[in-house]
Amino acid sequence: MPLVSAFNFDNICSRMRIWTVLALLTLSTASNANLFIKADALIDVESGKRISPAFVEIEKDKVLALHDELPELQDTDELIDLSGHTLLPGFMDMHVHLTSDAKVHGYKRLNRSLPRVTLSGVEHAKATLMAGFTTVRNVGAPGFADVALRDAINDGELVGPRMFVAGRSIGVTGGHCDNNLLPPEFEAKSDGVADGPWAVRAKVRENIKYGATVIKFCATGGVLSKGTKVGVQQYSFEEMKALIDEAHMRGLTVAAHAHGLDGIITAIKAGVDSVEHVSFLNDEAIKLAKQNGTYFSMDIYVTEYILGEGEKAGILQESLDKERTVGKQQRENFRKAVAAGVNMVFGSDAGVYPHGDNPKQFSRMVEFGMSPVQAIQSATITPAKLLKQESTLGSIAPNKYADIVAVKGDPLEDITLLENVDFVMKAGAVYKHEND
Ligand code: ARG
Repeated sequence: MPLVSAFNFDNICSRMRIWTVLALLTLSTASNANLFIKADALIDVESGKRISPAFVEIEKDKVLALHDELPELQDTDELIDLSGHTLLPGFMDMHVHLTSDAKVHGYKRLNRSLPRVTLSGVEHAKATLMAGFTTVRNVGAPGFADVALRDAINDGELVGPRMFVAGRSIGVTGGHCDNNLLPPEFEAKSDGVADGPWAVRAKVRENIKYGATVIKFCATGGVLSKGTKVGVQQYSFEEMKALIDEAHMRGLTVAAHAHGLDGIITAIKAGVDSVEHVSFLNDEAIKLAKQNGTYFSMDIYVTEYILGEGEKAGILQESLDKERTVGKQQRENFRKAVAAGVNMVFGSDAGVYPHGDNPKQFSRMVEFGMSPVQAIQSATITPAKLLKQESTLGSIAPNKYADIVAVKGDPLEDITLLENVDFVMKAGAVYKHEND
């Protein structure tokens, strides 16, 4: 008896196996339907070359192959014809604040609740993706609003870029990452404030606990914060080292907000992965960055918005005064850093200026010393390396996510073309396709 039932059981199992195999076969035939994109050219950001014409084959969310000519298509295959267009990898912005509103600065921000701030991120995330930015690093948001946004995007509830998020920006009491707008009786304090090596380690641990995938801290004063000296260091070497070691031990990269020279140098020596803003530089800092492979994320467009529109938006008078020196110095130093061959990533600080206007920075990067290819690399392959995601992001290549944008014409001839993307694909899904 036992033998018989064992036999029967086996028999049932093998039938089930056959059905499973058949079901899988049907599924895989259906998923064999691949998507092809045909375009005039593609920018190969690894070699810096323009490949023409371009034929990209996409399977589900990844690029399967690049072809020299259009292969014979199966009935089930789909072709997207982007003739007249150049394909580029989806852009990556390493410095955004999707929950900040460019029209709301200074004391106006005190009137915005955390839920209101979070909701504004919905529109901002969409505008960012539609401008061609398929990946962003959100370097600071109150109350983990950026984690909520990322999760809703990943769950398909909202349209937006792939997000690497910092959660709360970590900083000293009264520093750039604190809220210094109110008198003491209000006891206002940003949720990322931490003083001392163990306190910053604890803050990193909490950020990770609640969903951060990168760590951001303030190493110097800033332009838009009240009462901080933009060139002056905040956090000692010991604090920066503790914070960075803790993050690295947990496998996260670290971004340091730093305008002033001492803060920049100390953050690099403490092992930071990227320095943000980097306004006041000297040869020693450039040399150190090169030796350590540190990335610079220099937001050289935003100064135009701050000085042009800032007052209306509520930016404090003291911030406008600081900006006048910072903006000029930063642009000159951008030129020096590019000439010296520092790893440069595209970071816009969108949120200070309108989301969706991110690409305006490309032309300023070319004006201040980059070739068009370098500007494109700074927003594609280089940030993929900074985020340690180069196996899946940063270029149009087999096995990487099909994050692809298209512009009419040749952006190597005219970099401002990147301000008008006609086509946006993220992970194989089309979000924008404008036909003339
Ligand atoms: N969030 C930065 C700060 O407040 C903005 C600096 C903008 N200015 C500039 N030139 N990049 O410090």
